[in-house]
Amino acid sequence: MCGIIGYTGPLNAKKILLDGLSQLEYRGYDSAGIAYFDAASKIQLVKKTGKVANLKEFCSRIQDNAHCGLGHTRWATHGDVTDQNAHPHQAGRVTLIHNGIIENYRELTRDYGLEGKLKSQTDSEVAAWVLDALYEGNPAKAIQNLLNHLEGSYGFCIMFADRPGEIYAVRNVSPLVAAYTHSGAIIASDLTALIPYTRRYFVLPEQQIVKLTAYQLTLYDKKGHPEEPEYLEVNWNMDAAMKNGFPHFMLKEIYEQPEALKNTILPRISKGLPDFTDDQIPDSVFETCDKIHIIACGTAMHAGMVARALSEPLLRIPVIVSIASEFRYEEPLINENTLVIVISQSGETIDTLAAMRLAKSYGSKTLSIVNVKGSTIARESDYVLYTHAGPEIAVASTKAYSVQLAALYMLICRMAFVRGKYSRDQSAAFLSSLLDVIPAMETMLSRKEEEKNLVTHLIQQSDTFFIGRGRDYAFSLEGALKLKEISYIHAEAYAAGELKHGTIALITEGVPVIAIATQERVFSKLISNVREVKARGAFVILLTKSSAVVEGNLADIHIRIPDVDDAFAVFPIAVILQLIAYYASLGKSLDVDQPRNLAKSVTVE
Ligand code: M6R
Repeated sequence: MCGIIGYTGPLNAKKILLDGLSQLEYRGYDSAGIAYFDAASKIQLVKKTGKVANLKEFCSRIQDNAHCGLGHTRWATHGDVTDQNAHPHQAGRVTLIHNGIIENYRELTRDYGLEGKLKSQTDSEVAAWVLDALYEGNPAKAIQNLLNHLEGSYGFCIMFADRPGEIYAVRNVSPLVAAYTHSGAIIASDLTALIPYTRRYFVLPEQQIVKLTAYQLTLYDKKGHPEEPEYLEVNWNMDAAMKNGFPHFMLKEIYEQPEALKNTILPRISKGLPDFTDDQIPDSVFETCDKIHIIACGTAMHAGMVARALSEPLLRIPVIVSIASEFRYEEPLINENTLVIVISQSGETIDTLAAMRLAKSYGSKTLSIVNVKGSTIARESDYVLYTHAGPEIAVASTKAYSVQLAALYMLICRMAFVRGKYSRDQSAAFLSSLLDVIPAMETMLSRKEEEKNLVTHLIQQSDTFFIGRGRDYAFSLEGALKLKEISYIHAEAYAAGELKHGTIALITEGVPVIAIATQERVFSKLISNVREVKARGAFVILLTKSSAVVEGNLADIHIRIPDVDDAFAVFPIAVILQLIAYYASLGKSLDVDQPRNLAKSVTVE
């Protein structure tokens, strides 16, 4: 949460900061601000509530040159959404931007007598004042000293008034990536802000200080000695982070799913089997475990729910799915024989990271499924399986979900093979069905008008129910999340058999019920549940496979997906559910890509 960027070099710093903030805006959009050294080497500060466009418009009226500066786009934690609470914060000689939460800010305020000094309600400004108090002309020494006083998570970029052209940065948990390019040094909370300038970057190691100047980037180890950064390469290009003619990132990302699936699946097929040799995941990881525990948040957790519904009956071992924010405060029943699968698009979600660290402390092997290369979860897990979705910019996750599923399906298939549950032929057939979902998704994308039309009724309602049984229930969880987060329509997913135990009281004339009925095993049961809600006046939107036989008047709207194998129906169903949410948001004239109160990467608790 919060996007941060710093640049120093020969180019126009204000432009780089403002462009970078536009790229990072999905991390938070309550307010935005920049600080830069002007031609007289004085630090200028501009900050505004609202979106980056607001700040850009204001900055366009300021005619001065800058070659070194900081930029921040905020997702509010401490303090309201006001100009004062926007970053950067200034305290004496210190100007800083912060992503994270300083947990002991009250104690620091008291210990450093800051009560009368603070201009904002933020924990970040407290850190700035403490740093100013510790600063005696040696920035690295003062920052190192500051770290001894702080509790919490932080990514800081800092300028000192008497050090024009220099930026210092340090982090704990909150992400920061940096690069030195032929046109200066750049640092940001996220790769998307770096890729217009370079694909070679490094992840700032925790609690190590980096100093950026126009001519040099110096990383210091914890003792203050210079150290060579560990550079990584990313194959994302600028196009991947642009809308490319689509009206919204979300729609573009929905359309990118077939390609993302190919990129994630195809390099991992060898001799007709899933193969993780290049990912350095040995078969022993799959052979030795007697339980699987999946941990994730939000959409990633829903991918885990689908994986559970698929894998437990097949592998015949317990597969448990935990919400990371719950798991991290539990006393989990896991041990060294448990395989813990951690799923995260960003690889930075704080709850997921903390849960993974807890699992490691129990001796469990951790395997992460992550989209962002070099992210903290990827680096700290014992094994990592990268999904290749490219950058996902829209806050609502779409392509990350389907590639997470693809990665999970491949893992399950390999596990079934090495544990003797699948023969070579069965594994090959499974993979072939997985590949079949790509044209099935393309078919659904080519029929997007169906979803566009069906939201007419939906967007006039305040509640929607998604129902399904078995795997269909797991799919419906994601449908409900997608709809509520971007259309603000209250949406709940229910195991269809559970409706009669209370929730059916909410079904009245016209209430939309989206019923997912793709699983042969429970199809007739689900159809009975649909009849029950229909009898109470529900507006039924029914999703089935093409060959499904249902009576003509059962559904108000009936959408059919291609006849894929039941286990793989989630892929074309996901496209429909994503498009329903997208068109509902559009139909209500809402901000599709940046829904209220949310941010892409949840790096605070
Ligand atoms: O980066 P992560 O996959 O760890 O993020 C987890 C959730 O915050 C995320 O999936 C969230 O639920 C999506 N924005 C929903 O569309």
